Amino acid sequence: MTASRRVPESDTLLPPIEPFRVKAVEAIHRTTRVEREAALARAHFNLFHLDAEDVLVDLLTDSGTAAMSARQWSALLEGDESYAGSASFKRFHTVVGEIFGFEHILPVHQGRAAERLMIGSLCMPGDAVPGNTHFETTRGNLLSFRVQPVDLPSPEFWQFREALPFKGNMDTVALERFLGSTERGKVPFILLTLTNNTCGDQPVSMENIREIHSLASRYGILLYFDACRFAENAWFIHERERGFAERSIRDIVKEMFSYADGCLFSAKKDGLAHIGGFFATRSEHVAERARQQLLLCEGFLTYGGVTGRDLETIAVGLREVLEEDYLRYRVDTTSYLAGRLIEEGIPVLLPPGGHAVYLDAAKLVPHLGARENPGQALAIEIYREGGVRTVRLILAPGPEARKQECVEMVRLALPARVYTRNHLDYAARVVGNVARRATEIQGVRTISAPPLLGGFLARYDREAECHDA
Ligand code: F0G
Repeated sequence: MTASRRVPESDTLLPPIEPFRVKAVEAIHRTTRVEREAALARAHFNLFHLDAEDVLVDLLTDSGTAAMSARQWSALLEGDESYAGSASFKRFHTVVGEIFGFEHILPVHQGRAAERLMIGSLCMPGDAVPGNTHFETTRGNLLSFRVQPVDLPSPEFWQFREALPFKGNMDTVALERFLGSTERGKVPFILLTLTNNTCGDQPVSMENIREIHSLASRYGILLYFDACRFAENAWFIHERERGFAERSIRDIVKEMFSYADGCLFSAKKDGLAHIGGFFATRSEHVAERARQQLLLCEGFLTYGGVTGRDLETIAVGLREVLEEDYLRYRVDTTSYLAGRLIEEGIPVLLPPGGHAVYLDAAKLVPHLGARENPGQALAIEIYREGGVRTVRLILAPGPEARKQECVEMVRLALPARVYTRNHLDYAARVVGNVARRATEIQGVRTISAPPLLGGFLARYDREAECHDA
């Protein structure tokens, strides 16, 4: 067991700071309210369809938006672009193997490609996969393979104002009930998402991981992780779970993954890279099936849909993301933003997550009904007010939830190492201004939305214009 590197005692009274200095900057531009209004109309009121240059502070996602370090940029030049047997793949493979401990590692272009390898090599149509809450693309991919996604989040998650430490846990009582009542052989694996992005980016405890592992073993079912934000999850275990304060992050990660049969990973999050990911497994049989799909859909086994230079940036990013100074700064930044929003009187989901803060739209705009898309209306208004881009998320208490039971949230996600506290103060002020006149916010009507991944593709229009239509 390796010991955690603690902050020197003499430094504990000093405020936390960014553990880096800025080497290159990228200009961002203010727009006028009239320009933003026109941009919204062009985007059919879906913020995914805005031009990025019309956004001042972009809190849409932490995915692929991190600032790379000087070490990562210089690693790009080491990229070996050989079609097969690239040295970059060897370096990537060594780092991933060291951290996660899996034998078979297949690179992919991003997390959702890893989802397809995992589902395609483990599932049959008619199967069901329980999880603490499947991310939107995982859910979509499961359904496209005719596999039923089953969300079993901890009931604690629904107490939005209670700052409980591990609200991302899976409900193990519900899991046992589900496994006991489902036909044997129909559940190929359990998927545990760390952290639980769809449930307010809340972490999963080691205790919960151990319990799920022992349930899975008892029922002879595999356990896979969606490891997109594994380092942030490990940090929360380090900070919040009894017995882990003195253990290093790497050691905690090692124990977490010792309970898993494999994982999917998007390097766009805790890889601190702009693209990439992997699917990993302990099973040669699963790896063999996944390799065939990799060759069909992504590329050869040693580059899998990304370049050698991308693999280099991931290898460096994976080492950096496990540094305690980085993780302390990361989580401190999210808490800082949550604190500023609370000062502005805004209802946020507690405790804040690792990469994002979630606003409770239902509380902020209670006058809007489900048909008026309260979360979307709020996100639009935040952009209109100050050019801050966020995203609406809908949380459903179970897969069969009716629209009225769903909770609308607006997520402010922080790209890693990108924004300063001034940017966050600005974003909090913008949201504060919107909240002060929340009762005037008008809803938006859905014009079109596909049943799967609707958030990315939907088109909306203003209420008034819909009434006129
Ligand atoms: N799993 C989780 C938990 C995710 O958050 C994401 C992506 C994926 C899988 C898919 O990975 O984007 O690399 O294909 N989340 C992004 C977000 C899109 O904004 O939260 P990907």
